[in-house]
Amino acid sequence: MIIKDNFVLNYHPSPERRFLNTTNMKGIIIYRSKYGATSQYAAWLSAALNIPAVAQQQLSRDQLASAGYVILGSPIYMGKLLMRKWLQRQEAALAGKQLFLYLVTATKPDKVEKLQGYIRLNVPPGIRSNCRCFFFPGKIIYRQLSLADKMKVKTGSLLARLMHKKLDVSEFNNVDEAHIQELVQDIARFTGASGGKFMIQAS
Ligand SMILES: Cc1cc2nc3c(=O)[nH]c(=O)nc-3n(C[C@H](O)[C@H](O)[C@H](O)COP(=O)(O)O)c2cc1C
Repeated sequence: MIIKDNFVLNYHPSPERRFLNTTNMKGIIIYRSKYGATSQYAAWLSAALNIPAVAQQQLSRDQLASAGYVILGSPIYMGKLLMRKWLQRQEAALAGKQLFLYLVTATKPDKVEKLQGYIRLNVPPGIRSNCRCFFFPGKIIYRQLSLADKMKVKTGSLLARLMHKKLDVSEFNNVDEAHIQELVQDIARFTGASGGKFMIQAS
């Protein structure tokens, strides 16, 4: 594992295993969001890369089938990716594509074990080797939450206080366009390298 900066975790230890070999450079962003942080990042990525961003619930089978590479965006709720079940259902369709996954979290970027755990528990094994993982900071605006989510945040705060733990989930907003830069650069390296003489098969 290489930590490239505060918000990037790269699960490809060997530079020879960088990208999946593909000649199809057509990209798509597929995201799921509850309170707007993940969809905001999707909109910024879409503008920066000039590729469409589609909500997971609105995605057609053809859109997924015709994409050469896929950027997946999902927040974490109670340790689970919001698109966890969809990822499981689409494992076969995603397996042959180069994937870039950005997780939007309240977890601080130095909590490497915890972030790795999210990937291990939520990303099906069949697509992990094609998947480069990035972590973007999210937001919690308490007044915007549903009643159920308010209760969860309150319970989390209470438990943390009882256990004398520092709380990760509390009101904050760290959503910032600057955080997409590493991913945008990674895509540029991918689209530049793939199809050229440095193409390398990842598996
Ligand atoms: C009820 C609740 C549970 C959450 N659970 C986690 C969690 O387990 N781990 C984490 O890192 N962030 C957690 N978060 C933070 C969200 O991932 C963060 O707010 C993110 O920005 C939400 O993205 P969205 O606005 O696209 O829905 C939680 C937030 C809420 C409201």
